[in-house]
Amino acid sequence: MKVLLTGASGQVGSCFQDLVSKKYPQMTLLATDRSQLDITDAAAVDRVVAQFQPNVIFNAAAYTAVDRAESDPEGAWSVNVQAVENLSLAAQRHHAFFVHISTDYVFNGEADKPWVEDHPCDPQSVYGSTKLAGEKAAQVCDQTIVLRTSWVFSEYGNNFVKTMLRLGKERPELSIIDDQRGCPTYAGDIANAVMQIICADERPTGVYHYSGLGEISWFGFAETILQKACTHGLLAKMPELKPIPTTQYPTPAKRPKYSVMSTKKIVAAGIKPVSWLPSVDLVLQKLKSSLP
Ligand SMILES: NC(=O)c1ccc[n+]([C@@H]2O[C@H](COP(=O)([O-])OP(=O)(O)OC[C@H]3O[C@@H](n4cnc5c(N)ncnc54)[C@H](OP(=O)(O)O)[C@@H]3O)[C@@H](O)[C@H]2O)c1
Repeated sequence: MKVLLTGASGQVGSCFQDLVSKKYPQMTLLATDRSQLDITDAAAVDRVVAQFQPNVIFNAAAYTAVDRAESDPEGAWSVNVQAVENLSLAAQRHHAFFVHISTDYVFNGEADKPWVEDHPCDPQSVYGSTKLAGEKAAQVCDQTIVLRTSWVFSEYGNNFVKTMLRLGKERPELSIIDDQRGCPTYAGDIANAVMQIICADERPTGVYHYSGLGEISWFGFAETILQKACTHGLLAKMPELKPIPTTQYPTPAKRPKYSVMSTKKIVAAGIKPVSWLPSVDLVLQKLKSSLP
């Protein structure tokens, strides 16, 4: 199988590359980061797809700077919508299966039970709106799966686990939002789910939710990360943690209050989400072993 990966140096892209090199060496992977393939360049996308003739195009690229997007809607649109259409049109033309990742930010966060795939969307931010439009652009290709995920962390890039580790070393006390709930998801588990999808005899198409098992608040997630960091010897002392409401931490982009997504549909398709808890240990171990 020939797979074209875009956004290869992001969290999910990096984990997918690791998975292929460790467990799927027979797969022909063309992993491209922005310098090798800028997906906003339609001609470049066409050229690469025509030359490589992939069976699968996996788009792990996105404009993920949620707050910056509020003042740069054109930039967010070009990567999260226009570029996705470039890829989905190329996939359609070359009969490739298209895998695209979306987000819990397509919902407004006003719920008290897990969001299901066909619940009406109501994004509250530029990022969320562009990701929702990107879902439609992705489905221009008949053979497309859109995987919505949430609260992604890994040993790569920027994420909450790495931020907590840095702040935990720098500050004796941290104030963390306690009234937003969601499901953290390890990028390596997303990579695994994508691999199961593309290797399936009958690949599922349409919109699916995939996130780590176990809902928690940012405060609870921070507490877990920092306690584990102490256990792993990455942190000398547990900082004092103070739960705060969202109102005390204003950001340019509004965050969903309740982001938990139902994963029943993907489970029915044969893919089982896993708990994010052991992946926090895994990431901390990897970060520890990468220290000089
Ligand atoms: N992170 C989260 O918490 C989260 C939550 C829900 C859903 N998601 C979704 O999950 C997917 C993967 O997220 P992630 O956390 O792995 O993102 P990430 O670490 O920010 O990686 C995104 C990658 O996309 C690349 N990129 C941006 N513009 C590009 C362009 N024009 N051409 C080619 N590459 C480009 C970036 O390259 P540069 O570094 O050069 O900009 C970066 O390597 C995204 O679709 C995201 O919307 C993420």
